[in-house]
Amino acid sequence: MNNKKILVIGNLGYVGCVLNRFLYEENIDIYGVDANWFGNEESFNLQKKFIKRQVIGDIRKEILNEDIWDIKYDAVIYLAAVSNDPMGKRFANVTHQINAEFCLKVAIEAKNRGIEKFIFASSCSMYGMSDNNFPNESSELSPMTEYAKSKVWAESELKNISSDKFNVLALRFATACGSSPSLRLDLVLNDLVASAIINKHVEVLSDGTPWRPLVHVQDMSRAIRWSIDYQDQNSFLPINVGSKEFTFQVRDFAKFVVDSVPNSKLSIATDKAVDSRSYKVDFSLYESLSGSKYYPKFDAYKSITDLIECVNSLEIPNDFRASNKWMRLKFLENSIKMNQLNNELFKIS
Ligand SMILES: NC(=O)c1ccc[n+]([C@@H]2O[C@H](COP(=O)([O-])OP(=O)(O)OC[C@H]3O[C@@H](n4cnc5c(N)ncnc54)[C@H](O)[C@@H]3O)[C@@H](O)[C@H]2O)c1
Repeated sequence: MNNKKILVIGNLGYVGCVLNRFLYEENIDIYGVDANWFGNEESFNLQKKFIKRQVIGDIRKEILNEDIWDIKYDAVIYLAAVSNDPMGKRFANVTHQINAEFCLKVAIEAKNRGIEKFIFASSCSMYGMSDNNFPNESSELSPMTEYAKSKVWAESELKNISSDKFNVLALRFATACGSSPSLRLDLVLNDLVASAIINKHVEVLSDGTPWRPLVHVQDMSRAIRWSIDYQDQNSFLPINVGSKEFTFQVRDFAKFVVDSVPNSKLSIATDKAVDSRSYKVDFSLYESLSGSKYYPKFDAYKSITDLIECVNSLEIPNDFRASNKWMRLKFLENSIKMNQLNNELFKIS
């Protein structure tokens, strides 16, 4: 049987670098397009062996490049994004353009070329913040940031163009964690583990009571793998991806980390105001549809162990939160300052 062929837009970031290898090991051929904002030649060379063909470029420029579209892919996966709330705040227009507008444009292009499946990396952040209930896929959306709004806009437009010949799955991921060849330390668990190892001190700056559902990048890849094969009777399926076993309060994550990193200490600012950015999500639809093969395998301790090994293998400075290597927002700001990004495509809004 021939390998499936998948086009992945945004395949050289934190999730993409794990996904490339995951799908390669599943005998799936990856065709990638990525501006490679956070990588360089060296990091790309490490990914090369997992990728059948790569276009390095901005999808806003490359969308009609025939070198991308000369294959009838089994699916298109859209990971490209300005990928968190602080970046969304800083680069609001670009966030809408890449996360939403060009996601729709790519989907239309794919549909017009007879591709039958589109997988969108969405986010649980679209439910807004509430720790009093567990929103499911039918719950009201309440996006509070430019990033979350861009995901809501994209999903609603993708729903409009979906059909029985163009199946769309919107994977509403919990917050990611875990090791990746393109590591981010601007994600909550990754930050806690790095602080514990490097500074021997985990400092929770709120009272630590907010709830967070997390998902390991390997399990995100597992969910994408599931969605490549999954056939739903509906043409548009939004689905929360994460697990109840990996939903905790931030102070619990911090305690798990300190328990796992020798000689690290924990301080929680119990006198600080309660952080209202708290949320839980209902993952039962994914649990029922994915089955045991694709249900998340990483819990908190397994993810922390994986992160400890990763952080120990890297040279991360004490002040990593200020470093443009580990924090996406700092990286983009610095690249713009140094004129290393195409400023036309990255107008600061
Ligand atoms: N990391 C998380 O916690 C999380 C949670 C939920 C959903 N998601 C979604 O998963 C996806 C991947 O996230 P990530 O953590 O890997 O982000 P990332 O920032 O690490 O990677 C994004 C990649 O997209 C590329 N890219 C951005 N704009 C592009 C453009 N215009 N053209 C071509 N390439 C472009 C970047 O170069 C980068 O390699 C995103 O859509 C994100 O919103 C992530």
